[in-house]
Amino acid sequence: MRHDPLEELQELLDSFDRLPAGERRRLAEAMRGWIDAQGHPEPEPAAELPGRFGMIGASPAMEEVFGVLQRIVRTDVPVLVLGESGTGKELVARALHEHGPRRKGPMVAVNCAAIPPTLLESELFGHVKGAFTGAHRSRKGYAETADGGTLFLDEIGEMPLELQAKLLRFLQEGEVRPVGGNTIRKVDVRVVAATNQDLLARVREKAFREDLYYRLAVISIQMPPLREREGDIPHLVHHILQNQAEEGLPAARIEEDALQALEAYSWPGNIRQLQNELTRASAFARDHCIRLEDLSPEVRAAAGA
Ligand SMILES: Nc1ncnc2c1ncn2[C@@H]1O[C@H](COP(=O)(O)OP(=O)(O)O)[C@@H](O)[C@H]1O
Ligand SMILES: [Mg+2]
Repeated sequence: MRHDPLEELQELLDSFDRLPAGERRRLAEAMRGWIDAQGHPEPEPAAELPGRFGMIGASPAMEEVFGVLQRIVRTDVPVLVLGESGTGKELVARALHEHGPRRKGPMVAVNCAAIPPTLLESELFGHVKGAFTGAHRSRKGYAETADGGTLFLDEIGEMPLELQAKLLRFLQEGEVRPVGGNTIRKVDVRVVAATNQDLLARVREKAFREDLYYRLAVISIQMPPLREREGDIPHLVHHILQNQAEEGLPAARIEEDALQALEAYSWPGNIRQLQNELTRASAFARDHCIRLEDLSPEVRAAAGA
């Protein structure tokens, strides 16, 4: 018995010739359908894309970011990551964690804007049983969960003033006081904070404590918006398409004029928006290839298409 699929296919093709023409066409169509249905093309072999610390980029603006990361990744200093939404602030926090001495410890991310202000303190620092209505048992906070690792405070600009004072004390003393408790616990975390706000303007408005600002911003990293990352879009597109192919989304290729349209667009939502655009376009794409017509109207309009 032979098991060579190529030989079997050849035999099948030979038998084609013995079929009546109409049958042959029907079978050919069925086979094409079958081949298409075999799903996704092999994703192109993972190209070596430029970048460092798990982030894609080769533009001067990103080289600057990589340079700062290189200098601070092995330290414990707090870092403030600034930049528009979708520019990779959280990715920077993860890079600092994963490439630094705390990589074996936990990385705990807290979105200060997503937690109601009244709950934020107990979420961060924990509470003791009976501290407030509904506190049926004591619970440790994120700061303690992150012990030995990294605590990422996202949207730090949204933190209520009162809690800012407690965060400052935590940074200075490395101790947490659970809500309603009178014991303190030592924890050892590296804090990385991020915001898309103009934090200094918040300081001037007295909405953000100046002392906390300077404490957090010992080192700050300004993430460039995508429109200022010259030459990075094609690399990012290939990276995103590779990831999407691994997740089973069909489109693995993009036509040159579609890529040019992506490069011409201004991306107010930055890389997150680029990802969404490619997910959407993949859904429209025929034969696993994204064409100009698959892009959303605003992207096509910006490219004059
Ligand atoms: N340089 C980069 N290379 C690859 N992916 C990136 C890069 N920057 C951001 N991303 C991706 O874009 C998305 C948005 O990034 P994120 O860090 O959440 O942005 P932000 O926190 O600034 O809103 C994430 O899925 C992230 O993995
Ligand atoms: Mg974010």
